[in-house]
Formats: sequence, structure tokens, C-alpha cells
Amino acid sequence: MPPQRREGSSMSDFRFTDIEACVFDAYGTLFDIQAPMARRREKIGPKADELSALWRRKQLEYSWLRTLMGRHADFWRVTGDALDHAMAVLGLTDPVLRADLMQTYLNLDAYPDAKPMLEQVKAAGKKTAILSNGSETMLTAVVNRSEMTRSLDHVISVEERASYKPHPSVYLLAAEKLEVDAAHVCFVTANGWDAAGAAAFGFQVAWINRTGAPVENLPHQANVTITSLSDLPPLLGHRDS
Ligand code: LAC
Repeated sequence: MPPQRREGSSMSDFRFTDIEACVFDAYGTLFDIQAPMARRREKIGPKADELSALWRRKQLEYSWLRTLMGRHADFWRVTGDALDHAMAVLGLTDPVLRADLMQTYLNLDAYPDAKPMLEQVKAAGKKTAILSNGSETMLTAVVNRSEMTRSLDHVISVEERASYKPHPSVYLLAAEKLEVDAAHVCFVTANGWDAAGAAAFGFQVAWINRTGAPVENLPHQANVTITSLSDLPPLLGHRDS
């Protein structure tokens, strides 16, 4: 049985058990999707924060709806459709701004704690992977840019399953690619709903909650909540043989 978080137990009490592989969500977890929007606040104008929040919410909503409808399209398309809707809601029509915002997804910076953490996890002998809704092109662009390629054994896009997280078939794809039983995978995400989905599937889960967000009211929860990616390596413990 994966360890369950005990109510009230502090992070320092917690250790994952028998972890062979660590799998990371991309957007908001390893890569900062807020910073490019913040840098464009003046250019976008007073609706910048609203646009940023609505774009992300619609992007996720469309991914879930397409999966429910059985009408998959890749994440570049979904991200563009979401941006078009968000801009329309807020009365923004500038096509140059639209193109610029889409490009940000190919030029995201990694959070400063991401690369050092990945190197530590690799040095501890764990397999590593990204599992993301992002298309292969989108993921390759940001992984190369952040120079994380050498610290990642796999960069896995959901495209192969033509479904989006939190569909269980997507988490299974990661376990299969890594050739690791789900119970020996530590999944790390900044999205509370992704943490719930991965835990429901059978991964051990760390929720990186950088903003102090409340827990999602969904079946299954992360085993532990961390506030920085650098909190992760000490929690991985040793593999019992
Ligand atoms: C991803 C989104 C859900 O990277 O953050 O899959």
C-alpha cells in the first residue's frame, strides 16, 4: 500500500516508499506559465490577469470536454481555441497579441528549482519522465530550452492515447513507458485535480502547492504537499530490496 498522508503529519515526517521512477507534470509544475503573462501585463492592459486565468481555465476545460466527448485534438489546438475564447470574452481582438501569447508556450522557462531537483533525483538512481498534455513539439521546445534533456529518461505526451489527464489511460502510458509498476511511481504535479487523478490511478503523489491553494474536493489526494521542488528529493527514500 502506498503511504497515506496522516492528517496533521508534517512534511518532514513523510517518506515515499519503494520509488523507482518520478514522473512530472509540465505546465505550472516544471515550467512557469504565469511569468510570460506577467511580463506582458502592460501590453495586454487591465484585463491581463483575467486573461491569464481564463485562458488556463478554458485550456483545461476544453481538454477534459474533448476527452469526455471522444473528440481529441492536440494541446496546441486546444490552447489556441482556449485563448480565442478567453480573448473574445474579454473583448480583445489583436491578432499580433494572440500570436505572441501562443509563442510563449514554446518559450517557457523552467522554475529555478526544477533542473537542480531533476539532477538530484537522477543521481539517486530513479528513472525520470515528464507526462504532460502538451504535444511532442510543445514539450520538446521547452525541455531543450531548459537544458533538462539529460536529466529526463522520457518526455511523454498524452498524444499517444488521444486523451487528456486525468483519464487513467494516460497515467498508464507513463507506467508502461517507464516499465515501472504504478505503486513504485512518484508523480509530481502543481494541479490539485491532476494529483487526485494520479492518486486514483495508483501512483504515489506529491502536490507542489506554490500558492497555498486549498485542496481539491475530489476522490483521492496527494500523499504529501510540498512548496518547492527542492523539497522532493529528501522524501524519496530508499528502495527496499
Ligand atoms: C500538463 C498540464 C496539465 O502539463 O499542466 O499536462
